[in-house]
Amino acid sequence: ALPQELIRAKRDGQALSSEEIGELVGGISDGSLSDAQVGALAMAIYLNGMNAAETVALTEAVRDSGEVLTWRGLGPGLDLPGPVLDKHSTGGVGDLVSLVLGPWIAACGGYVPMVSGRGLGHTGGTLDKLEAIPGYDIAPTRERLRKLVREAGVAIVGQTAELAPADRRLYAIRDVTATVESLPLIVSSILGKKLACGLDALVMDVKSGSGAFMPTHEASFELASTIAEVASRAGTPTTALLTDMSQPLAPCAGNAVEVREAIALLTCEKTGDKRGGRLLEVTRTLAAELLLAGRLASDHEGALALLDERLASGAAAERFARMVAGLGGPADLLERHDRHLPRAAVVRPVYAERSGRVTRMDTRALGLAVVTLGGGRRAPSDAIDPSVGLSDIAAIGEAIDGERPLAWVHAGSEADAERASGQLRAAIEVNDVALGDVVLPTLIQ
Ligand code: URA
Repeated sequence: ALPQELIRAKRDGQALSSEEIGELVGGISDGSLSDAQVGALAMAIYLNGMNAAETVALTEAVRDSGEVLTWRGLGPGLDLPGPVLDKHSTGGVGDLVSLVLGPWIAACGGYVPMVSGRGLGHTGGTLDKLEAIPGYDIAPTRERLRKLVREAGVAIVGQTAELAPADRRLYAIRDVTATVESLPLIVSSILGKKLACGLDALVMDVKSGSGAFMPTHEASFELASTIAEVASRAGTPTTALLTDMSQPLAPCAGNAVEVREAIALLTCEKTGDKRGGRLLEVTRTLAAELLLAGRLASDHEGALALLDERLASGAAAERFARMVAGLGGPADLLERHDRHLPRAAVVRPVYAERSGRVTRMDTRALGLAVVTLGGGRRAPSDAIDPSVGLSDIAAIGEAIDGERPLAWVHAGSEADAERASGQLRAAIEVNDVALGDVVLPTLIQ
């Protein structure tokens, strides 16, 4: 059919067939649909939505618009002896789950070809964090990627031009036509890329709260359930957890700062109360879901026991080290991270204007403070300063006074540190209340 007739059908609220959706996505990939037609189609989908069958068809068409990685039937000695697993998050602040979860799953017998992204808006990006490591190559050749996944069990890399090319064009057009916030478009965009990696199972970490991509709890819940359903119908068993982003997940945000935190967790440098807190709990829960989905554990308790053992033994840390070295980073990053990871010129505490307890935070504003420090981008071509960020960020419910700062700021200059301090004070609400009167957010819903 003519593309304009298919766009007309969607405009008028009709459902498109799988074949029609396949034709349209083919036209997006090969350029036979004009930018105007892609924009009109995106708007028609935005306004009229898609039913579940259409969303599945769109996801499959985006997935199949380029290369789909396969890990089986490759010949003797080349097939992976365990399940291919991955996790995707809708984006957060202080969310370094991927850095810990990938190697941790690998240490438990899974294989993790993780295609990650850059920071977007106020959220940090896994690739930007990994690029804080000198020498780390986010774009290895296909052969090197395969070898690394086989030998280290994990490779966290960037999207190649061959992976889901329809999404790259569609996303760029959505971005400038006010059609980003559409459930079927978001779901097919996220899943099209992930499912092109040839996964046996996926777990989604959908964020809710002041730092989340979706504006309300209800919208986050709908995204989580739609993603799990659509991915599973497209042939990749997927579960989704809804996790809290009403404060940064780790007590830090920034690129090198978060890599340091990941190393501290993986090497069990943090013990007792300091041991990872919310970040470790979310990572452990997501990882347990994946071990179950990949049949590497038979029940939730067994999964957690395996995970705890592989963290304590140093096996997860060792997988991280192998991945970093395999992608060109320093072989002794774990032992000498102080030497290898960049440190900001100014590192200083930020105190609140009053004593009290942290009652609420604007997580998005904290993420934007990191961007303003130079840890994220204003325009896609901007360079990032990997050394800047925030550390030791106070948690909701924590007591704040002249001794306990709201956080430490890592900045390139005194002026930048001063500006970020103001942003922090505005973003973190401190009140004179008892702990019992603070509403503590539920971490995993
Ligand atoms: N992330 C994506 O990759 N695509 C979207 O549409 C939204 C978030």
